[in-house]
Amino acid sequence: MQRAKTKTKTRVFSGVQPTGNLHLGNYLGAITKFVALQAEHDCLYCVVDLHAITVFQDPDELAKNTREVTAAFIASGIDPGRHIVFNQSQVSGHAELAWIFNCVARIGWLNRMTQFKEKAGKDRENASAGLYVYPNLMAADILLYHATHVPVGEDQKQHLELARDIAQKFNNDFAKTIAREGYEGGFFPLPEPLITGPATRVMNLRDGTRKMSKSDESDMTRINLTDDADAIAKKIRKAKTDPEPLPSEAKGLETRPEADNLVGIFAGLAETSKEAVLRDFGGSPFSKFKEALAELAAAKLNPIGEEMRRLMADPVEIDRILDDGARRAHAIADPILAKTKDIVGFIRS
Ligand code: AMP
Ligand code: TRP
Repeated sequence: MQRAKTKTKTRVFSGVQPTGNLHLGNYLGAITKFVALQAEHDCLYCVVDLHAITVFQDPDELAKNTREVTAAFIASGIDPGRHIVFNQSQVSGHAELAWIFNCVARIGWLNRMTQFKEKAGKDRENASAGLYVYPNLMAADILLYHATHVPVGEDQKQHLELARDIAQKFNNDFAKTIAREGYEGGFFPLPEPLITGPATRVMNLRDGTRKMSKSDESDMTRINLTDDADAIAKKIRKAKTDPEPLPSEAKGLETRPEADNLVGIFAGLAETSKEAVLRDFGGSPFSKFKEALAELAAAKLNPIGEEMRRLMADPVEIDRILDDGARRAHAIADPILAKTKDIVGFIRS
């Protein structure tokens, strides 16, 4: 009889798609959180190229964008020596576990996913099958490492709930063999989403009811990590606002999506709260606030953009970092995948 195996150690996992135009939403909603979590946790940060191809990607662009996300991670302060930075397609366990989860998740669960509905749009018949099962792959990313905490922006909350449902159903469906393998309290942990702070949903600069997105046709709707100070100032100056001055209390932002968004961005960049920002700027006209915001955004983002460009100039070094990350990711994933196969009843050598 084996000793019961229980898991208490925390492990952080998150991913970003290499689909170009990394923006302020990615930075404030996700990457800054990745950086902060390094102090207390073991972290894996993945460039999710398998997710990216659910919508067609030009192969040369995909490779360039994979290196660019890697560069953004490192330029923002992620340490690939102490933590693991890698690209998803180099660890085949993601695709293998995703297949098993395709057989655990229910079609009814996937039909509720709002991101699929948004991305597939009206012509759903023409969306790739991959786009539909995308959340199952995301669950596999996390659970392949028995990760316990997942920092993401607000738009990923529903996918995280699905990952928990998949873990729970797997644990129930295979309870008999899981117990035989000696695991107590299930084989897969139920991962916790970490969605915190004032900028978990950064909105489009031209329309405060839509989120800032990599794929929006107009570059004026987003601030890219590689924008220079002039571009940032121009985009913020032209950002949509309303005619009223800023309110003094956060409650006054509730019916003003554009104002709420800019105050949230300021708070995120300044690592403070919306209330604190309004203590300084309540009653100010937008012209004054926008000037301060443009200055702050350039001060925070320009050094990152510059470091990204420096790193991108040496693709061989980036590829070496990804290669090393994949090797270390494999070392964690392989035994978990092997156990999963035993639990499901696959014979392996
Ligand atoms: P993606 O660009 O879809 O790969 O997203 C990478 C990470 O950035 C995920 O954790 C998203 O939730 C987060 N994210 C993307 N867009 C935004 C946004 N507009 N506001 C806040 N977080 C975002
Ligand atoms: N689906 C996420 C997004 O588009 C990216 C992602 C893929 C991810 N796998 C993940 C995030 C695992 C967290 C954990 O934003």
